Amino acid sequence: MGPVIDVRSFRQALGQFPTGVCVVTSVIGTEKLGVTISSFNSLSLDPPLILFSIDRRAASLSLWMQAECYAINVLSENQADLSSRFSRPLTNKWEGIACETKVGHGVILPGTAAVFHCAPWAAHDGGDHLLFIGRVTSFQSFRDRRPLVFSQGRYAALESGSHNEVSWPLAMHY
Ligand SMILES: Cc1cc2nc3c(=O)[nH]c(=O)nc-3n(C[C@H](O)[C@H](O)[C@H](O)COP(=O)(O)O)c2cc1C
Repeated sequence: MGPVIDVRSFRQALGQFPTGVCVVTSVIGTEKLGVTISSFNSLSLDPPLILFSIDRRAASLSLWMQAECYAINVLSENQADLSSRFSRPLTNKWEGIACETKVGHGVILPGTAAVFHCAPWAAHDGGDHLLFIGRVTSFQSFRDRRPLVFSQGRYAALESGSHNEVSWPLAMHY
């Protein structure tokens, strides 16, 4: 047995690492899937891989295990309402949403900062989550839209004009 970790303070410490917020979508038959995630991250440039994890208690987990495509919609700073909507279980998340469904591409939400279309690559045990790895087949990025930020359990926006250029020359760490 490892050391006992206090879950509350562990969560608080993890919240010190800011992330973006995404809605990962897919389509199974005629059913649209959509879940808010902050676990999205880049994994590999060659091949182009991304990852995200889904809680084993999520109502939609068994459907995610069958999904044949994922669309990772990276929310922009004015889309916190979409984040809340897609994090509510057992509701009709799609009611009144204008979206585009492309066969084999998942569901594309309008007004996002970027979207990555992926094919499933692998799924691994991640403790109380399941780790999904996707191979990016295409993507779109809207550089004029700033991403929504999630940190310390709250939504935030990037401050304009406060960005310092990074001069670290590793290809993956941009
Ligand atoms: C900002 C934010 C980030 C979240 N990140 C994740 C995540 O990475 N993985 C996850 O399984 N749930 C995450 N959730 C919770 C899910 O969105 C929520 O449990 C959702 O209801 C799952 O969808 P389902 O009930 O349709 O399965 C997050 C929620 C919020 C508000």
